[in-house]
Amino acid sequence: MHPQSITETLHIVFVISWMSAVFYLPRILVNIAEAGDEPAVRARLVLMGRRLYRFGHILFALTLLAGLTLWLHYGISGGWLHAKLLLVALTLVYFIVCGRMLKRADTGAALPSGKALRWFNEIPVLLVLVIVYLAAAKPF
Ligand code: HEM
Repeated sequence: MHPQSITETLHIVFVISWMSAVFYLPRILVNIAEAGDEPAVRARLVLMGRRLYRFGHILFALTLLAGLTLWLHYGISGGWLHAKLLLVALTLVYFIVCGRMLKRADTGAALPSGKALRWFNEIPVLLVLVIVYLAAAKPF
């Protein structure tokens, strides 16, 4: 098996894992916002969210490591990669904003409504559609 293919395989597997965390953390925020006045449920959800947030950052580091290896070691690059990295950075900012909301929820501060958070949860869907298109089609 060619080392570059192993690196690309690892990159895509880490991408899938990281994106699962990016999609699921805002869903936990929706459940916290809709948990009403049940401190035990809220505490359990906050704990789940904090563990997912921490693990998500590890998965991002592994995605980045494999991606940088493909870019800098195997020399795969182009305008598509620069545009892709800008959208990846936006996705990381989105994940950090979710982490900040979780921290605020942990202090008992109010979250936006469940409905608003469900719309907020759609943002990474749009980002990942364009990121994967850029990586697969390399249009420029
Ligand atoms: C974290 C920084 C990232 C870097 C530096 C990076 C870099 C790269 C590079 C250089 C390739 C090789 C392209 C090729 O061999 O054709 C690649 C492939 C790919 N990347 Fe990333 N990437 C990153 C994050 C992501 C993220 C977050 C996603 C999805 C959400 C993603 C999705 C993909 C896909 C689907 C491929 C395979 C494309 C193909 O084989 O046609 N990458 N990436």
